[in-house]
Amino acid sequence: MEKTTGAYRLTQVSAIYDFYQKALGSHRARNTIVSNHIRPKENDFVLDLGCGSAEVLPFLGDVNYVGIDRNQGHIDNAKSQFADQGIFHCGDFSDARNFSKEGYDLILCLGLLHHLGDKEVQDLAKLAKSLLLPDGRLIAVDPAFVENQNPIARKLAQWDSGQNVRMPEQYCSLLSNSFSNVSFKVYNNLLRVPYTHCITTAQNQE
Ligand SMILES: C[S@@+](CC[C@H](N)C(=O)[O-])C[C@H]1O[C@@H](n2cnc3c(N)ncnc32)[C@H](O)[C@@H]1O
Repeated sequence: MEKTTGAYRLTQVSAIYDFYQKALGSHRARNTIVSNHIRPKENDFVLDLGCGSAEVLPFLGDVNYVGIDRNQGHIDNAKSQFADQGIFHCGDFSDARNFSKEGYDLILCLGLLHHLGDKEVQDLAKLAKSLLLPDGRLIAVDPAFVENQNPIARKLAQWDSGQNVRMPEQYCSLLSNSFSNVSFKVYNNLLRVPYTHCITTAQNQE
C-alpha cells in the first residue's frame, strides 16, 4: 500500500520523483549500494521489481536487465532514457513470471518492500526464489525504523509514501520463509539528509 493523495501524488510523476531523489543525493547512495551489496558481474541477468525509471541501470555496468513497474509513466521514462540497455514492462511484480524467464543472478527490490504488506512480501520472496539461479541473490533497499534513530530520519521514514516501513529484523523475517541466508546492513549516511536505509540480502547459499 502507498499514500497517493495530496503531495504524495507528486511522487507518482516520474520526473518529479527522480528530481527529488537526485536532490537528496541518490547518486552517491546508488553507487554505495551497487558496489557494496549488488556487486553485479558482466552479463549477469538482473530482474528489477518496482524499477521506477530504472535509475539504477547506469550503475550496473554491462548486464542483461529486465525492469517491471506498475506505474506506466515510470516505464515510459525508463524506455525513453535506456531503450537499448534493458527491457521494461508495466505491470505488477506478481506478474513477473509472465514477463520474464527463470535463471536470474540478481533480483532487485530497490524501494519496493516498504510499499507491500507482509503477505505480499512473502509471496514476492517465494516468486523471487523460483526465478533466481541456485546461487542468485535478492537485494532489497528500504527505509527502516531503528533504535536511537535520528529524529529527522525517523520522521522521513514515517512520512514515506510506503505504508509498511519496518525494522530491519522484520524485513529479514518476511524473506526468511523462502531463503535460508538473510542478512541486513543499516546505513545512516547515504543521503544529504539524515535517513536510515536498510539493505537486505537474501540467498540460499553462503
Ligand atoms: C520508491 S519507488 C522506487 C523506484 C526505483 N526502484 C528506484 O530505486 O528509484 C517504488 C516503486 O515501486 C513501484 N511499485 C509499488 N508497488 C508495486 C507493485 N505491486 N508491482 C510493481 N511495482 C510496484 C512503484 O510504482 C514505484 O515506482
